[in-house]
Amino acid sequence: MEPIVWTDKLLLDYEPMDTVHRDFIAVLAAAQAADDANLEKAWVEVIDHTRTHFDREDDWMRHSGFASADSHILQHRVVLNVLREGLALARSGQYGAVREMASELAAWFGKHAQTQDAALALHMRRQAEYPERRPRPGGTERPLARHRASSSG
Ligand SMILES: [Fe+2]
Ligand SMILES: [Fe+2]
Repeated sequence: MEPIVWTDKLLLDYEPMDTVHRDFIAVLAAAQAADDANLEKAWVEVIDHTRTHFDREDDWMRHSGFASADSHILQHRVVLNVLREGLALARSGQYGAVREMASELAAWFGKHAQTQDAALALHMRRQAEYPERRPRPGGTERPLARHRASSSG
């Protein structure tokens, strides 16, 4: 499979995220183009970059009251765990399996960017436009179920 390339279809109009996504594409493309001798090293770079990429988005979600944070953060964790399994495959010389994983990661990223990341980028843009909607420092969102209908008692 041809290495992944950046396309403006991936642009989400939130510059910090677009920048990290461009870097992600570059690192993944390098791994897809790596020969057997360099694949393990390239895969370590994919994992390191992806960890930083996901940590940054997880931080944005946690600190901005993003409604779908839990499912998005979980998705990141699952993917990162799979990539770590890929490193074990690379270390045992199963290069074909790592390359297959790289293709799956590229396909996953296209969907993730245009769904979960797109929603987060929109949320972050709105936060920047309407700072008064940001959660107050120290304020915690209470689950709806805990709100009481009656103040008596
Ligand atoms: Fe992302
Ligand atoms: Fe994400």
